[in-house]
Amino acid sequence: MATSVRKAVLPVAGMGTRFLPASKAVPKVLLPVVDKPLIQYAVEEAQAAGIHEFIFVTGRGEAAIKDHFERDDALDAYLAARGDDAALAATAGALLESGTAAFVRQEKPLGLGHAVLCARDLIGDEPFAVLLPDELLLGDPPGLAQLVDVHGKTGGSVVALAEVPQSETGRYGIVEVAAEEERIVTLSGMVEKPAPAEAPSRLALIGRYVLQPTILARLAAQGPGAGGEIQLTDAMAAMVREEPFHGVRFTGQRFDCGSPAGYLQATIGCALQRPELRQDLLSFLREAMPPS
Ligand code: G1P
Repeated sequence: MATSVRKAVLPVAGMGTRFLPASKAVPKVLLPVVDKPLIQYAVEEAQAAGIHEFIFVTGRGEAAIKDHFERDDALDAYLAARGDDAALAATAGALLESGTAAFVRQEKPLGLGHAVLCARDLIGDEPFAVLLPDELLLGDPPGLAQLVDVHGKTGGSVVALAEVPQSETGRYGIVEVAAEEERIVTLSGMVEKPAPAEAPSRLALIGRYVLQPTILARLAAQGPGAGGEIQLTDAMAAMVREEPFHGVRFTGQRFDCGSPAGYLQATIGCALQRPELRQDLLSFLREAMPPS
């Protein structure tokens, strides 16, 4: 029987260099997709999977991220005085109950594995989720819930997977597949950012993980990998050989907001799902497109 997953780690220390100048004073994960910051999509996805403790691993801009999830009495009083219930509901939707959000600092950008390691004391000795907010997943059930469901059946560790073009394997962690049944993939290996010719498959890690706490000791003992960083993928690759480890093909829409192009697609994709925006946006897009 798998232990339930209660905690999520959200690495949000990235410098967001591809989004300058927008990300100079505003942390990249606070940039909005339509009217909600990227980070809130990840938090809501985790909540939908039953998570109620959040560990943010932060760098620059930590105060702004805290502010986003805390109550702002002056703003709420202003909105209440105007009777703006919709705006009040929007600010309430972003609140994390006191005591459920923790912030730890990643002093140096030493990689995703290092970011997870920074949360070690708060994770303790239980399975936990990791969500990379750059990856925006729209699914029903939502992305992390798909993993938690598989974790309930298989136990061990579970990662979300999606097929990427062969030419893009160098941007992702790529897995080696031993077997597959009904979207559940038994893994035999994984490698961080392989060149297309060396990639063991086209199935990429897409920033959602349910991990056993045994990964923490592995990360602590591990040296730098690809790009000189402490890679989460390297620690998982070692685990795959020794502990139950599965992948699940994510079903739904996925947007890689790590680049301006993906972020723009996410904005359009999310706006198209909003009934009050959809028709106007479609008309605009049709007009903007040259006739073929
Ligand atoms: C990270 C992970 C990589 C994963 C990717 C998903 O890479 O290291 O394994 O495939 O996120 O977006 P990054 O995009 O931070 O370079």
